[in-house]
Amino acid sequence: MQSGPNFLQQDYTKNEGLKVRSLTTADVPSLSRLRSDVLDGLADAELYSRETDEVGFLHAHIGETGPGETLGVFDGHELIAYGMIGFPDKADPVGFARYICTDPSDFARTAELASCMVSARYRGRHLQRLLLAKRIELAQSRGRHLCVAMASLRNHVSRHNLMREGLQIGWVGEICGLKRHLLILDLSQPRALNLGITQWVDAADWKRQQYLVQNGWWGVDTVQSSQEGNTLVFAR
Ligand SMILES: CC(C)(COP(=O)(O)OP(=O)(O)OC[C@H]1O[C@@H](n2cnc3c(N)ncnc32)[C@H](O)[C@@H]1OP(=O)(O)O)[C@@H](O)C(=O)NCCC(=O)NCCS
Repeated sequence: MQSGPNFLQQDYTKNEGLKVRSLTTADVPSLSRLRSDVLDGLADAELYSRETDEVGFLHAHIGETGPGETLGVFDGHELIAYGMIGFPDKADPVGFARYICTDPSDFARTAELASCMVSARYRGRHLQRLLLAKRIELAQSRGRHLCVAMASLRNHVSRHNLMREGLQIGWVGEICGLKRHLLILDLSQPRALNLGITQWVDAADWKRQQYLVQNGWWGVDTVQSSQEGNTLVFAR
């Protein structure tokens, strides 16, 4: 499996000229526009659910106004991609970390890799992975060693990129009525799994996946089986 640092060294030149920086409140209108364009262009609305409180969500992920941050990728002055990170301190009723934090003290060591979008014109340049690698570094620098991300069972590209950066499926279930994976990377404790014995499951077969994760299996790889379908590989 490819790792984050190697990926950054190999691929960053492809994105020469693009700049990454933390967004401020002055960037909120551009962020809002980018989200709106991406959401309007989704082929499948299930891939990403709209926020009920969009303004509150954005401000919660801008360092000046909330506990989280958003890294933006700029081509000149144009915001063309972003990745958000949240730093929960306690059970947040809308945050997804609560599904994996079993002890209240877990929240203080957790970072939510909350949301990422790439403008359609800039896809295929691995910008999600660039933003993931940078947010994982940021989480580590804040002492947040448990990184968690959420993906729709149907979002094969996003899940693929998350897994290439080392996240593994550790939770499968419904969040607000939508079928979701939670992918986890524990930077303080690499998981020792026996990759010699694996179970291969259709990405749509969420009951089987749920059974596996509840019985100590982790989703460790994804294989694209067709344009529409993916097979997930579990190990424990
Ligand atoms: C998901 C998203 C952020 C990814 O953007 P991106 O960084 O441009 O992603 P890329 O196109 O560079 O990803 C390329 C990788 O996806 C893989 N991929 C493409 N189609 C795939 C498919 N159907 N199944 C599995 N993998 C696929 C490619 O093989 C490539 O993998 P590689 O790097 O191992 O060769 C972008 O599509 C987006 O903004 N989508 C809408 C919002 C969204 O879904 N956000 C994520 C929410 S969790």
